[in-house]
Amino acid sequence: MKITSICCIGAGYVGGPTMAIIAQKCPHIKVTVVDLNVERIAAWNDKDVTNIPIYEPGLSDLVAEARGRNLFFSTDVEKAIDEAQMIFISVNTPTKTYGLGKGMAADLKYIELCARQIASVAKDNKIVVEKSTLPVRTAEAIKNILDNTGNGVQFQILSNPEFLAEGTAVQDLLFPDRVLIGGNLEGEREALDSLVEIYANWVPKERILTTNLWSSELSKLTANAFLAQRVSSINAMSELCEKTGADVNELSRAIGMDSRIGPKFLKASVGFGGSCFQKDILNLVYIAKSYGLNEVADYWEQVVIMNDHQKRRFASTIVQTLYNTVSGKKIAFLGWAFKKDTNDTRESAAINVCDYLLHEQAHIAVYDPQVKEKKVFNDLQYLDSRSLEEIEKGITVFEDPYEACKDAHAIAILTEWDEFKAYDWEKIYDNMQKPAFVFDGRNVLDAKKMVSLGFVYSAIGSTN
Ligand code: NAD
Ligand code: UDX
Repeated sequence: MKITSICCIGAGYVGGPTMAIIAQKCPHIKVTVVDLNVERIAAWNDKDVTNIPIYEPGLSDLVAEARGRNLFFSTDVEKAIDEAQMIFISVNTPTKTYGLGKGMAADLKYIELCARQIASVAKDNKIVVEKSTLPVRTAEAIKNILDNTGNGVQFQILSNPEFLAEGTAVQDLLFPDRVLIGGNLEGEREALDSLVEIYANWVPKERILTTNLWSSELSKLTANAFLAQRVSSINAMSELCEKTGADVNELSRAIGMDSRIGPKFLKASVGFGGSCFQKDILNLVYIAKSYGLNEVADYWEQVVIMNDHQKRRFASTIVQTLYNTVSGKKIAFLGWAFKKDTNDTRESAAINVCDYLLHEQAHIAVYDPQVKEKKVFNDLQYLDSRSLEEIEKGITVFEDPYEACKDAHAIAILTEWDEFKAYDWEKIYDNMQKPAFVFDGRNVLDAKKMVSLGFVYSAIGSTN
């Protein structure tokens, strides 16, 4: 079937960029991205394209080119479903915060709502594509809901997990390592082939991998678990490096040159964040447990346990180094986003480190080039560990990094934004309390230079 009309439910970090690329590469396809969030859709439609709700290098140009031509953002979910031949479900699948599986399982309520809405609106056959990251065998549940509406419409379900990373979403979508499409491989290949054909507009055929549905669903959780495991592995070594005088950066280089290990994802840090790694591993752990595979579950859970330890360790080192008390002291945070080049703060290590230091009665001064005050406060509120009043008292968000660092007792680097390297560190030093401590949670600064300027500088995984 030649696809000419697509709808994507969910205008978030995945739905927005993914559909912008499809619209750009497939001018013959009308792409409508819908969301219940009125504010978010209004931002996607903002006349000033720099106001789109997601900051990703290159994204606003893409949107400017395709919006209004064959790319549309709307809150009219039903109309978009009705008009589309192919519907991508790209809604959020967070960790459950209540009931069975609380704190572990993926909350599939938004997915189920989408399935029910598609079922109630569809008047002709539809291809439904799982773009969200889902537990293995979710397609079965979706099919079950869709097939029980009794309106005679045929639904084909595909799994097409997204592997983009934030901050590099546009490049990742333009030049993916692979596109994965899971579907019914025996007979009924038409749906699968029609999605292959869409990607083939810009992705070389040999990079479009087709598998059965369950392999596709499980590959996504597996990929994220392996990636996060690498970060936890190198972070575990960083602690040992600090005790022994080895340097974790040298370690990464040394092991990364082994072609079997490879150099990527070996950067020691304050801990991984982002909306995916923790949630997907916890979900994997939950699935393994639900099949009685306790060793498998424990094995993967350790990746998250190690990450929590790394975040806590970073925060407690700050307290210990500052003579065991940060009470009333100003600690400047450079960076709040979970990685550079994004305004996304979900599960950012900065949130936990901040929470820890607030418990120690520190005053936190935050500067992040892309994160606004409201988001910082929301992130802390979401933890539910103190009132908004206490949060506002404990944190000040600055628009200028030099102001944030002025009179600080210590600076903690939480995100690896490039601009931090280019700051006038001498000026920052002059305006700080002495001794002037810097805790580089991302190993972005030049240790020698920092020490020569007078800072007491500590990095992750080395003793300088
Ligand atoms: P997001 O929270 O940014 O966006 C999801 C959007 O879906 C929200 O705007 C929400 O309002 C909307 N939504 C929820 N229910 C809806 C409904 N019934 N009808 C219409 N809109 C609805 O989430 P995201 O980061 O884009 O992630 C989406 C999925 O993709 C998740 O399953 C995630 O695990 C997966 N994923 C995310 C990334 C990433 O880097 N963020 C990468 C790969 C995969
Ligand atoms: C991840 C996956 O990479 C992507 O394929 C998937 O689709 C979504 O989840 P994302 O979370 O956007 O992407 O960013 P990623 O680059 O993977 O970084 C995740 C976290 O790990 C960040 O906090 C990052 O700073 C941290 N990290 C990454 C390290 O601490 N060290 C590294 O070497 C790499």
